[in-house]
Amino acid sequence: MNYNEILKIGENVLKKSKIQNPYLDTQLILSKVINRKREHLLLNTNEKLTNNDIIKFKNYLLRRQKKEPIAYILGFKYFWKYKFLTNKSVLIPRPDTELIVEESLNYLPSDKSKNILDVGTGSGCIVISLLKDRPKCVATAIDISIKAINVAKTNAKLHQLENKINFINIDIDKYKSSNYDLIISNPPYISDVDLNRLDDDIKFHEPKLALSGGFDGFRNIKKVIIKSRKLLKINGKLILEIGHKQKNLSIKNLRENGFYINKISKDFSGKDRCIVSTKL
Ligand SMILES: C[S@@+](CC[C@H](N)C(=O)[O-])C[C@H]1O[C@@H](n2cnc3c(N)ncnc32)[C@H](O)[C@@H]1O
Repeated sequence: MNYNEILKIGENVLKKSKIQNPYLDTQLILSKVINRKREHLLLNTNEKLTNNDIIKFKNYLLRRQKKEPIAYILGFKYFWKYKFLTNKSVLIPRPDTELIVEESLNYLPSDKSKNILDVGTGSGCIVISLLKDRPKCVATAIDISIKAINVAKTNAKLHQLENKINFINIDIDKYKSSNYDLIISNPPYISDVDLNRLDDDIKFHEPKLALSGGFDGFRNIKKVIIKSRKLLKINGKLILEIGHKQKNLSIKNLRENGFYINKISKDFSGKDRCIVSTKL
């Protein structure tokens, strides 16, 4: 069987299973199997596959048919300007979360060393992107999931930042070290009702610990705000990702805890997604 033939079969199988981007996903799977870029497939459509490659292809295709996200099958995802290893222990980095990186860079001059805390680091995508672009800074990254911490540590090594980021497996409730210039967090903020409405790809494959924000989705945002009050320096910044219906409650909680609201930025679909605030 050649590339062209197997791509057609794969696309049809994924189409029948109502997978969103059947052609693209089939190409990505085939490029993983043969360990070459997608361009190579498209320029060499008559090249033959080995039996071993066909078996591998079928296995990956079956996983995608069962709605496993393509980033878990491929084992990586691009975020900001960098590539991050991803597996089912961590949330897949989302383009919306790049807003935290964009906003944070405004408060991190490239010639200064600032001390950053990342709460709920997951794959480490936010903190690693920041330190790649601001090499003078140092950071601590915490997560309640030891499996997530292990993925984040591997990503830090891949980006030669293992000596710049201190990874700690701890619940934000128990974390005490203070004096940070900047706290960043994309906490789990999906409400119980919305959790059930998510696409199967997310609902059945991404870690619940990384998604669930309790009954109203606000439990973790509130924890991070209250804790940040204690952990930040005066004039330190808190940059938070929020659910698009959580703007007003977040502003109220931030103000009640002594924060000034600097900015609320919208995501690619025009929804309120990121709040920048300052500890007064
Ligand atoms: C929405 S994910 C964000 C992951 C990553 N920062 C990103 O933006 O892709 C939230 C992360 O917070 C972690 N988490 C959940 N509850 C926590 C808690 N109480 N203390 C520390 N981390 C927590 C989860 O394990 C998960 O990795």
